[in-house]
Amino acid sequence: YGDFETLIVEKADGVALIRLNRPDVLNALNSTVARELVELVGLIDRDPEVGCSVITGSEKAFAAGADISEMETKSYMEMYGEDFFAVWERFTHARKPVIAAVAGYALGGGCELAMMCDFIIAAETAKFGQPEIKLGVMPGMGGSQRLTRFVGKSVAMDMCLTGRMMDAAEAKQTGLVARVVAADQLIEEAKQAARTIAGFSQPIVAMTKETVNRSYEMTLSEGIRFERRLFHAMFATEDQKEGMNAFVEKRKAQFKDR
Ligand code: CAA
Repeated sequence: YGDFETLIVEKADGVALIRLNRPDVLNALNSTVARELVELVGLIDRDPEVGCSVITGSEKAFAAGADISEMETKSYMEMYGEDFFAVWERFTHARKPVIAAVAGYALGGGCELAMMCDFIIAAETAKFGQPEIKLGVMPGMGGSQRLTRFVGKSVAMDMCLTGRMMDAAEAKQTGLVARVVAADQLIEEAKQAARTIAGFSQPIVAMTKETVNRSYEMTLSEGIRFERRLFHAMFATEDQKEGMNAFVEKRKAQFKDR
């Protein structure tokens, strides 16, 4: 995919492993990270060899937030004029799944980036938080909205208003993360989940992701109709025929549609 200043990418077995690489600032997310990540997920969406990505940080920090030193002196007109943070919306338009593998701090924009992914696998060392209130601001990359949908109003208010951190056990219990594993298992567990996804039909995976995401945007009856229409559309793929035929013939399916 070329060279990136703030990211390290490895590709193997249908999976792209993306590492945030700003160790000196605990992977603080500046505009370069945003621009590079958006570019990279676009390239991955167009790469038929990859079916799923994992995004991770270091053992100490997934990401300790948006880069405070980049924002500190900005005026209102600069923030508004640039539509600061709007670039991150394009990250959520990735069609292929992205799993967040979180160890250490996922604070502010770091927590928000993890929530922009399709699901989160956390190490026991993970710490989540929206501490922006301590800086005289509030979440700006979707945290007030996404965290509330993940954990409900009461816990989201607690997190956003007190700025306290949540450990991995609480994140699991409140539904913020899908799985918690030992720190030394984190990358393997996330890669394994990604390989499983990459082994399925790519168009069916993309349609499934799109459909689950619609549940945030639509009423229940419209969402169920959307699901049913895409379910019908799946019968235009070779992979539906292959998947069902393989079951009937008691063999492993070989998915090929791209
Ligand atoms: N932005 C810029 N630099 C950051 C950073 C951030 N969000 N988080 C950490 N760093 C830098 C520190 O300034 C420090 O740099 P120096 O070595 O040059 O001093 C380096 O990373 C290491 O950090 P610490 O020395 O502070 O490490 P620690 O282990 O003592 O503490 C920490 C770790 C508790 C995570 C602490 O770094 C911290 O509180 N970071 C800020 C967390 C935060 O407020 N995040 C929200 C940011 S605002 C935001 O994200 C807005 C939004 O909604 C998108």
